[in-house]
Amino acid sequence: MTSDKKGLFITFEGADGCGKTTQIELLDKYLKSKNRETIVTLEPGGSDIGKKLRQILLHYDGYVSDVCEMFLYLADRAQHIETVVLESVKKNKIVLCDRHIDSTVAYQGYARGQNIEQIDLLNNIATKNYKPDLTFVFDVDSEIAQKRVGKEKDRLEKEGLEFHKKVRLGYLELAKKYPNRIKVINANLSIEEVFEQVKKIIDEIL
Ligand code: TMP
Repeated sequence: MTSDKKGLFITFEGADGCGKTTQIELLDKYLKSKNRETIVTLEPGGSDIGKKLRQILLHYDGYVSDVCEMFLYLADRAQHIETVVLESVKKNKIVLCDRHIDSTVAYQGYARGQNIEQIDLLNNIATKNYKPDLTFVFDVDSEIAQKRVGKEKDRLEKEGLEFHKKVRLGYLELAKKYPNRIKVINANLSIEEVFEQVKKIIDEIL
């Protein structure tokens, strides 16, 4: 990563209620104040097809098999990476993406019990092996995160505390496995204190 205005792909990860969406907004403003062109996007739902897949993934109220769920997230990713992320990075934009490959490993792998090596392989197919330049994992105590989610819960948020504890542990394992790419942020603190940690890492990169 150099100081010239090259495109970057930055992903934001963490269990539901970790506060990453607020941090994306703050980072977006900060980067714009430094005259960097940004795009804020998300998975699932960052492409037109993805919006439909997001609706199914978060709100379908019938039975969804674990494998079906995994493939829907991967389908969303394949469309998103090709039509949104790669196009934006090519135009030297900084892509701030709410969730990406590590969500599938943490949720469908560590929490639902799908085979992680297979998920890695499928993620590589979906992304054409393109990897984020940097990933933040917002790590927060699972009980605190659950309280932050509120009452209106989507399909995944309705999974209980034990599920979300597995998600959290999955992310911490991923951070150990990919220490260069993944930076763990202590998200138990105030919004300002959390953003200070993010800003420090970003300032080092830019
Ligand atoms: P969010 O956009 O509000 O974070 O909601 C997305 C939900 O989907 C969240 O509960 C995490 C879940 N998810 C997966 O289970 N696997 C994935 O690959 C992705 C991208 C999200």
